[in-house]
Amino acid sequence: MSIAFLNDIFLPLEQAKISPLDRGFLFGDGIYEVVPSYAGKLLGFNAHLDRMKDGLKGISIQLNWSREKWKSVCDELCIQNGNGNLGLYLQVSRGADNKRYHAFPENVDPTVFCFAFEIGASPSADKSSAKTFSVSTEEDLRWQRCHIKSTALLGNVLHFQHGYDNGDDETILYNDKHELTEAAACNVFIVKNCVISTPPLDNQLLPGITRNLLVDILQKHSNLEIQERIVHMDEVNNADEIWITSSTKEIGPVIKIDGRPVGNGMIGDIWVEAQKLFTQHKYDY
Ligand SMILES: Cc1ncc(COP(=O)(O)O)c(C=O)c1O
Repeated sequence: MSIAFLNDIFLPLEQAKISPLDRGFLFGDGIYEVVPSYAGKLLGFNAHLDRMKDGLKGISIQLNWSREKWKSVCDELCIQNGNGNLGLYLQVSRGADNKRYHAFPENVDPTVFCFAFEIGASPSADKSSAKTFSVSTEEDLRWQRCHIKSTALLGNVLHFQHGYDNGDDETILYNDKHELTEAAACNVFIVKNCVISTPPLDNQLLPGITRNLLVDILQKHSNLEIQERIVHMDEVNNADEIWITSSTKEIGPVIKIDGRPVGNGMIGDIWVEAQKLFTQHKYDY
């Protein structure tokens, strides 16, 4: 049985109930995070919490929780859910008013909801056992504040479904200039002639914790060249390797794009090097 946390109480997930007037439900008016945890060890906790704080500030939700309070809720969720390989979902919505009205309500407490779900074991840098991914591509039709990790994910859901309907695992997105932004639930990297590139952080993409850790680890611990720059879709379509990154996937090697092979259609050597370094250094942060 999965144990959740709702407004200061730990309880079985099935018993967690919120008001239908909760603005998270009515408007998608909230911020969320997914923090991976392996055997009770949280990965990138501080970075996730910083992004959560930025998001709450970005949409003016006031929640006066200390880092220690978040940490103790996360630790307790891990313990109560068996301390295995877990994704910890943390959500703060603007709370439930007594009416439906767009303007921010006054004197309403935010709703804090957290639960844990099982994720796969931390991936190893092994070509023979690594999970591979196939992707579709589509023009990015989401809002202009994709750097905010909002619970209003309908745009992402529709983009993800496009890939899913094609039998793919993800959808890679591009703006009206045919420049890569990100994927529906991941950031994207390409490799060409051993040079790794990923779009720079701006309002078109989420500042992924995995993306940022990977860039930092590669810069500090490898001689590989890594560029944060505008990446055109022509480059994506002609890349030697494509990777999609997220907290629960780490670095996912993409071997098929719109039905065509990426590079030689196999996992690349640069991925092995990157995943190896990521595994080695991911808890340094
Ligand atoms: C749109 C989007 N981009 C990127 C990511 C990857 O972010 P992170 O590495 O912090 O999980 C996610 C993760 O959920 C996402 O939803």
